[in-house]
Amino acid sequence: MASICFFFLFVSFLFYCGGGAASDQERKAYIIHVEVPSGVSSHDFGDYSLLLKSVAGTLEIEEDDAASRVIHSYRNVMTGFSAMLTESEVAAISKVDWLLRAVPSLVYRPLTTHSPLFLGLRHRTHSVWNATNMGEGVIIGVLDSGVTPGHPSYSDRGMPPPPAKWKGRCDFGNASSSAKKFCNNKLIGARSFISYKGSASTDSPIDKDGHGTHTSSTAAGAFVKGANVYGEAKGLAAGMAPRAHLAIYKVCSEDECQGQDILAGMDAAVEDGVDVLSLSLGGDPRPFYLDPIAIGGFNAMTRGVFVSCSAGNSGPSNSTVSNDAPWLLTVAASTMDREFLATVKLGDGSEFRGESIYQPQGFSSKKYPLVFPGGASTFLCLKGSLDGINVKGKIVLCDRGVNGRIEKGEVVKQAGGVGMVLVNQPQDGYSTLADVHALPASHIPYAYGLKIKAYINSSSNPTATIVFNGTITHAPRSPAITSFSSRGPSQITPGILKPDITGPGVSVLAAWNTQKFNVISGTSMSCPHLSGIAALIKKVHPDWSPAAIKSAIMTTAYVKDNTNNSISDERNLPADLFAVGSGHVKPLKVLNPGLVYDISPEDYYSYLCGLGYTDSDVRVIVHRNINCSSIKNIPEGELNYPSITVRLPANQTRTVTFTRTVTNVGEATATYYAKLDVPDVVSASVVPRMLTFEKVKAKKSFRISFQRSHQGASTPAVEGQLRWVSPTRRVVRSPISIILE
Ligand SMILES: *[C@@H]1O[C@H](CO)[C@@H](O)[C@H](O)[C@H]1NC(C)=O
Ligand SMILES: *[C@@H]1O[C@H](CO)[C@@H](O)[C@H](O)[C@H]1NC(C)=O
Ligand SMILES: *[C@@H]1O[C@H](CO)[C@@H](O)[C@H](O)[C@H]1NC(C)=O
Ligand SMILES: *[C@@H]1O[C@H](CO)[C@@H](O)[C@H](O)[C@H]1NC(C)=O
Ligand SMILES: *[C@@H]1O[C@H](CO)[C@@H](O)[C@H](O)[C@H]1NC(C)=O
Ligand SMILES: *[C@@H]1O[C@H](CO)[C@@H](O)[C@H](O)[C@H]1NC(C)=O
Repeated sequence: MASICFFFLFVSFLFYCGGGAASDQERKAYIIHVEVPSGVSSHDFGDYSLLLKSVAGTLEIEEDDAASRVIHSYRNVMTGFSAMLTESEVAAISKVDWLLRAVPSLVYRPLTTHSPLFLGLRHRTHSVWNATNMGEGVIIGVLDSGVTPGHPSYSDRGMPPPPAKWKGRCDFGNASSSAKKFCNNKLIGARSFISYKGSASTDSPIDKDGHGTHTSSTAAGAFVKGANVYGEAKGLAAGMAPRAHLAIYKVCSEDECQGQDILAGMDAAVEDGVDVLSLSLGGDPRPFYLDPIAIGGFNAMTRGVFVSCSAGNSGPSNSTVSNDAPWLLTVAASTMDREFLATVKLGDGSEFRGESIYQPQGFSSKKYPLVFPGGASTFLCLKGSLDGINVKGKIVLCDRGVNGRIEKGEVVKQAGGVGMVLVNQPQDGYSTLADVHALPASHIPYAYGLKIKAYINSSSNPTATIVFNGTITHAPRSPAITSFSSRGPSQITPGILKPDITGPGVSVLAAWNTQKFNVISGTSMSCPHLSGIAALIKKVHPDWSPAAIKSAIMTTAYVKDNTNNSISDERNLPADLFAVGSGHVKPLKVLNPGLVYDISPEDYYSYLCGLGYTDSDVRVIVHRNINCSSIKNIPEGELNYPSITVRLPANQTRTVTFTRTVTNVGEATATYYAKLDVPDVVSASVVPRMLTFEKVKAKKSFRISFQRSHQGASTPAVEGQLRWVSPTRRVVRSPISIILE
């Protein structure tokens, strides 16, 4: 579904830009990066509408009109403002000395409790929740579609007031005269940044959708007993950091999140004093100087804020990952070990496992006629497509894709069908999703669909029923990467392995607005799991940089599923590094990684110059003057990242060497030995092979070198790993992605 959305987005974007003379006069939102004159603090600059007023003459508009064009002003994560301007107006102001760059804004989309148990966090007395006091006092800022105040997941029972540094507020606008009632010691802030047609709205931060309620409660929801959806997934619901505070920044409305509003939310969150930012939003990958999340995220990171983002829902095609800047945590999505089992049983006795959240009690086990209206081609059960086809009292097979999965069931139901078997497309393979279907239904893998279609073809009287087995835990081969999770390599920075990490993103139970809870899937769901885990780390290690926290998450991840095989993908094959990144997050290990790969803001300057960006491109991202000719430029592989990507050219003699530096965050005295695994097609070495530490925070560097072992044709990427292992059994693991060109 997501790739379809992107396709339409892309088309409309092209249309918009290619509109020629007519669109020239159309006003669009621009993000205006401003050069503050030296000696002036960006905070003193305050009202950017003055700047636009000052050029009203150039724009040939009234001063008041100029002021009204301003949407938001930014002063924390960038210096500048957003405004509604036409292309010719942008051209007219391009020569003004304070203008650094005017960038058209972008549209993002939201990327649609069992998980604490699955992640090993269940027991209130468990060591991780115990050691972190469940994230108490840490503030997680969530940029999404708003919040449902009063929901039990936002109960503040036993919560302390927000820390003294908190400067945010609760602003429910027109929604309530008693905003105080809405906010409490759990939900400490809520504001809306939605701009409609250019003017910042007074819209309330109330979630009209449910997405923002779901993501924020996943990150830091309170304990709620008996949470369930239609009786399924019953249990104790809780977020990853149940005692962290939540601050909500509404930036999405009606399934769209405008770039200028996202920047405004990030800007406010940094000023308010959040510790972690969670963004379950995605768009097409763009160079970082055009990408509001990359720009806002960079300057949040320099202020010590950890930024966690969804990888996107455009898999399984490769090079689809978004939110891929190295200072962001990019989160892929996997299954948990829970299934909402709905077994399809055919007239010939064969059975096929599928999934559905809706598990009707009274569905008769008698056999119903089974039809597939598509014959040899796909049949999507689009609206109106069953007109004139007799499906009364029958179970209908529908292929996945184009229209929504739930809508397909509604189409079947309206046509008089009694049930639906929803069949994956080839690219979705074995990845199935549990949905709240409108009728008895089961979502099955592609391979099973082929078998059922063949049965329908070969039988004169095909019949089937659906058996609802309920919620099953300990499902084999979990976690597994889902087909929808966006894959690397990154288009923008192929020399940094992305996504970074995998978290639960399939059939996640969390709070919702209209009903109490909902089970939904997406990298939108995996991102807030990691945001909550980052909050737990921050609680125990308040002095760690965002890069150190990320390193702790990545180097302790696991790579085997519950059958001791490599984590699989939608084809049931071992998932590659472009699907899982460093592996699946393991909260039980993240507090004590032993060593971390740290990165300073200055290191990123060298990296950005090394990407070939101009001084001005770099300036738009980092909002300070960087002269790339006077600082060290480094290749991507040289950034002190916790994973390693190396490209080896066909020229066999060339050795590629990177230097990495690790910081000791474990016991003062520690020794680590290098264990390097690479496939035969390359030879690799680490120098030195032993690192000895005598102090906490001591740093040690090593060099890792790669060379092709023989001249060979280019092959797809191959994989290896570097592990630093201590006699006390600490393992600091970096995956290695090797691209043979
Ligand atoms: C949790 O902490 C309490 C004290 O705060 C301690 O008594 C208890 O043993 C700890 N439990 C675990 C599992 O570490
Ligand atoms: C079913 O039969 C039709 C016509 O005989 C054929 O074209 C199609 O490929 C068959 N489909 C399957 C799944 O076997
Ligand atoms: C689901 O229920 C059906 C019918 O009772 C049974 O045949 C099947 O084995 C069950 N599947 C699982 C995995 O429990
Ligand atoms: C898992 O597999 C590895 C080999 O791949 C083996 O060394 C290890 O003992 C296995 N673990 C379990 C629990 O079976
Ligand atoms: C950047 O640095 C180079 C080398 O130090 C110098 O020649 C150049 O003038 C500088 N450029 C700017 C714009 O300061
Ligand atoms: C990307 O996908 C194509 C087609 O599936 C495959 O041939 C290619 O090897 C992939 N590239 C990488 C870098 O994995």
